[in-house]
Amino acid sequence: MDNLDDLKAELLEAVAGAGDAATLETARVAALGKKGRITAMMKTLGGLDPVARKATGQALNALRDEVQGAIDARKIDLESADLNARLATEKVDVTLPARPDPMGRLHPITQTIEEVSAIFGEMGFEIAEGPDIETDWYNFTALNIPREHPARQMFDTFYMAGSADQLEGAGAQLPAHLHGGIMQGGPEREVMLLRTHTSPVQIRTMEKQEPPIRILCPGRTYRCDSDMTHTPMFHQFEGLVIDEATHMGHLKGCLIEFCEAYFEVEDVPVRFRPSHFPFTEPSAEVDIGCNKRDGGLTIGHQGDEYDDWLEILGSGMVHPRVIEMCGLDPEKYQGFAFGMGCERIAMLKYGIPDLRTFFDADTRWLKHYGFLPLDVPSLTGGLGQ
Ligand code: DAH
Repeated sequence: MDNLDDLKAELLEAVAGAGDAATLETARVAALGKKGRITAMMKTLGGLDPVARKATGQALNALRDEVQGAIDARKIDLESADLNARLATEKVDVTLPARPDPMGRLHPITQTIEEVSAIFGEMGFEIAEGPDIETDWYNFTALNIPREHPARQMFDTFYMAGSADQLEGAGAQLPAHLHGGIMQGGPEREVMLLRTHTSPVQIRTMEKQEPPIRILCPGRTYRCDSDMTHTPMFHQFEGLVIDEATHMGHLKGCLIEFCEAYFEVEDVPVRFRPSHFPFTEPSAEVDIGCNKRDGGLTIGHQGDEYDDWLEILGSGMVHPRVIEMCGLDPEKYQGFAFGMGCERIAMLKYGIPDLRTFFDADTRWLKHYGFLPLDVPSLTGGLGQ
């Protein structure tokens, strides 16, 4: 029994002294493993007389439990010490100022979407989105561009494989001007294409949302076209306002306000030039005054002068037929819409000369024209530098 007390003291000391998990495991094996000290003593019990066997057996069981308990407790201590050490070395001070020159830059497209969204957001517009892969119906027909309409040729549309044939084939059976029939599900509902503009989001929004509607839709658009000033994929913003008493004055006020805020030029000359779009009546293209003197390009007046106009967007009062095709009453509701090219207004504001460079993924270009991610554009904090 004296032996047991000595053994216990010895084993517990080894456990308490173990400074890491591996040493503790060695101590455990030495005490309780197959060839451990306690295990070895257990094996001798069979040779003892019944009385001694009972007493020694109980003492050995108690010793085994105590040593096992000490090992478990030590293990927990070691684990939490380990965790504390890691926490101390991996500590992050979230109150430190951000690093002044992070490597990453925001692409001018991202920046422009943020800027334009901030301006219209301030005016009470919500952001809306629609799919890049559209049906012929949303992209054309519901926007008052029926199948035989010449405006379809303006858009060099990417149709999904087989879709264009489907439309042509169906043309023979279906009277083109039968809009009632088309609305119930003509081939336009099934023919798939890459949207050529963001205008289909107007239709999707009017179908699911009761007026008043005020939305801005930034997104990708596609046309089968590629040269100095066209890329097969580009970005547009679509705007739509529908209410019971919206008129041309609201359209003008809203877009003039936008031009001044976006180009950060007070009193920028804005011209509404009569135009034509099938989905608006009347329609107007918006030009801003600029100076091209000395081979440069400055938006707005230079001194009191401006010597040229730049077209920046298309707009108009939403055509009653479009409102009707969305299931709204055109006698009750009217409003305005506009669409503009994101790359175009980014090039004008930031002096980017070539459209194609937007999609070159050249990090030197991005470093030059990109924006710091922490400079979030806002009307109060400034839009872009
Ligand atoms: N969707 C037209 C285009 O891509 C732009 C446009 C013009 C949109 C007039 C409109 C609008 O909403 O009213 O050329």
